[in-house]
Formats: sequence, structure tokens, C-alpha cells
Amino acid sequence: MTSTASNGPGFFGELLDPAHRVDPYPLYERMRAAGPVRLGSMPVVVLSSHADCTAVLRHRDAAVDRSHAAIPMGPTPVHDLAGEFGAGLTGIAPMLFRDAPDHTRLRRLVAAAFTPARVRGLEPRITALADAALDRAGARGALDIVADLAYPLPVTVICELLGVPPVDEPRIREWSGLLARTLDPIAAVGAGRPDPAELVRASNELHGYFEQLTRYRRTRPGTDLLSELIAAEASGAALTHDELIATCGLLLIAGHETTVNLISNTVLALLRQRHHLAILRGARAFAGAVIEESLRFDPPVHLVPRIARAPIPLPGIDLERGDLVILMLAAANRDPAVFADPGRFDPARHDRHLAFGLGQHFCLGAPLARLEATVAINRFAARVRRPRLSEDPPPYRAHVTLRGPAAIEVEFDAIAPAA
Ligand code: HEM
Repeated sequence: MTSTASNGPGFFGELLDPAHRVDPYPLYERMRAAGPVRLGSMPVVVLSSHADCTAVLRHRDAAVDRSHAAIPMGPTPVHDLAGEFGAGLTGIAPMLFRDAPDHTRLRRLVAAAFTPARVRGLEPRITALADAALDRAGARGALDIVADLAYPLPVTVICELLGVPPVDEPRIREWSGLLARTLDPIAAVGAGRPDPAELVRASNELHGYFEQLTRYRRTRPGTDLLSELIAAEASGAALTHDELIATCGLLLIAGHETTVNLISNTVLALLRQRHHLAILRGARAFAGAVIEESLRFDPPVHLVPRIARAPIPLPGIDLERGDLVILMLAAANRDPAVFADPGRFDPARHDRHLAFGLGQHFCLGAPLARLEATVAINRFAARVRRPRLSEDPPPYRAHVTLRGPAAIEVEFDAIAPAA
């Protein structure tokens, strides 16, 4: 079949419009109903159905290496935004933008250091961090779920995992916040776009920071993930120095700019549907189902890109070689062909969402994200007495791809002491 072109640029313009950030789902419904769309005559296609997104994520010719694109692109989005493909940038593309065999090699090394046992072992620490965050809010008598719980928790966890000293966390946050915005489709960053010079600075400073930390850890290895990756590099296990640094940057940004949204979106859903919060108070194990449904219903990552490195025929469109394909995961997660009554938050569903992607690039940090969110909502449910939303809907960040609330102010009667 040939390409569909109707409505493409219109939908895309709407997608980037900040007015849709609070509730993009009616737009996604229209996009899905319209089927695959090509943006005018451009080599850019937007796919919104569960079947199309799944087919592309599993397809061997759906690449992430941006050099396959028909429109000229740098090796990472930061390169595109930093000016003539990253003038002045140091560093190389991390595994998220690399295909096999490099991707396979890098992913295997990180997966070996990022084991389920290591993640499970973090639970007591994550619980202590969540309790400390709620203690601070209790002492102040005010709670913003985003600033007080959802953001600091994953930042501290990923920094500790990588062996970043706590004193450096504020700098890490600044770099990561700036760089997260670069994952948005390029046109979206127009108005509030970070200054390219700022991006180059943030990216180079992050790179330089991990250069320094790596140098330090080479002589004083710890039990952290970075030390294990350095050992892999030293053992000749095919991880170059630049790849090591790029991996650290990826883990750092992927490790918290997403989980913040998962915790925030889940608390928001619980405060809007309080019967689930009541169940959670009595049965902590319910958290797993609540989080899976939150990942489907309001995912932290709304879209991921792919590039067709060869023609890919789909039922509603033929992807051409070089097409940039935007996969609307958040739209696929509400596809009525897969999920009955998709606009209803129902933790009893079976898990077939695409929130963590699928196939070769399936999120490496999914077990950690699930654990952090489970602990956060269980501590919230157990300790915060009669929580109410101060403002509904809350304000949202400008980000299109990593969409989530900017703040969730919660009123409450008390925050009970940690048991
Ligand atoms: C709720 C939180 C999270 C969500 C929704 C999420 C989502 C995703 C998605 C959709 C992808 C696939 C991207 C693609 O296919 O192009 C991905 C990849 C990745 N994620 Fe996550 N992520 C989360 C948390 C984390 C955490 C906590 C870490 C690490 C500490 C992490 C590390 C990674 C890495 C390294 C990749 C690249 C994997 C590869 O290229 O093979 N993520 N994530």
C-alpha cells in the first residue's frame, strides 16, 4: 500500500502545541483513528496504533542509527540542536542511538552490571530515601509530589548507582534537565528552546564530569556500576573509553527524567481515583498492578523514533528507505483494538503496554523504575493522611516526549511517622 498523507502536518503541529500537554489523549485518539500519516511530502511518518508501533519496534530494518535518515541528522538529537550537527560537542552516541552489533555489545555489558539482584538490593535504600523525602515535607507542612518525592528519589538512586557523590547532584540535575528537552521533536523546542550554546555547555560538562569521575574510579574502584564498567573496559571486553562515558550519560538521563513522570502520574491517578488509594493502603502488593496501569494509561515516554533503513511495508502505509518514523507509544497504549475502554484507569488489566518500548532497545532500567515507583507510592499511601490535590489538572512541563506534570501540590492532614 502507498503512503497516506491526509492531516499529517496538522496533527503534528497540534502535537507540538503546548496547549495539548495537559491532556493529549483526545488528540492521540484522532491521530490513531486517521491511521498512519506522512508529513506532507517529507520522509517523516507518524504511527499511532498498537499494531503499527509493535511491528516497527520488532522490525529488523527499523534502525536507531540516525545516519540512515533521508533528512540529514546528527548522531544524537543534541547534535542536531547544538548547531551544524553538534559543532563543539565532545563525545559519541550512546547505545540508544546505535544498532547491532555495537548496540548488542554495549547493552550486554551494561545488563551484566545492572542485574535484577543488584536492583532488588536497592529496596531498603529507596525506602529510606522516600521516607526521608516525606519526613521533610511533613516538617514543612507542604508537599509537592514532583519536587519533593518524584524528582529527588530517582536522581539520588541513579547517582548512587553510578557512584556520583551527593554534592554533585545539583549540577547533574541541571545538565540532565536541559538535555532531556532535546528528545522532543525538533520543531517543538522552537519557542522555549534551550540556547544551543547552553546545550553544548551542558553536554560537554556532563561528558567532562564523567571523564573526571572515571579517572578517579580507575585508581579507587568502588562497588558502583561505573567501577564495574571500568573493569569491563580494562578487561578488554570491548567497551571503549568514549563508550563508557556515553553510557554513564545515558543511564543518568534515562534513569531519572522518566521515572519522575511515572511516580508523578501514578500519584495523580490515585488522587483522582481514591478507591485505588484505599485498596493500596490495605494491600501493598496492589502497587505492582497500579504501576503497570499507570505506565499504560499515562506513560512517561510518549514517543520514540526509528529510521527505516530499508522499505518496511505495513498494512496502512509503506515506509520508505530513510523515513524517520515517530512511534506514538502513548497513543498505542490507548488503542481500543487492544485495550477495552482504554480511557479508564483499571489496574486489573493485563500488561501489554509499550511504555518501556519493545524489542532490542526495551528499557534496560524497567526493573529499577518499577521498584522506585512501587516504593514511592506505597510510602505515600501509608504515610500521607487524607491527601487532596490542590489543583486539578496540575501544571505540566513543556516536554512533548518525556511528558509529565511540573508540580503536584497536595494538601493533607498529616504525614505519619515512618513505621
Ligand atoms: C518509568 C521509567 C522509564 C521509562 C518509561 C523508560 C522508557 C524507556 C523506553 C521507551 C526506552 C526505549 C527507547 C527506544 O526504543 O528508542 C528505554 C530505553 C532505555 N532505558 Fe528506560 N525508561 C525508564 C526508566 C529507566 C531507568 C530507571 C533507566 C536506568 C537507570 C533506564 C535506562 C534505559 C536505557 C539504558 C535504555 C536504552 C536501551 C537500549 O538502547 O538498548 N530507563 N527506556
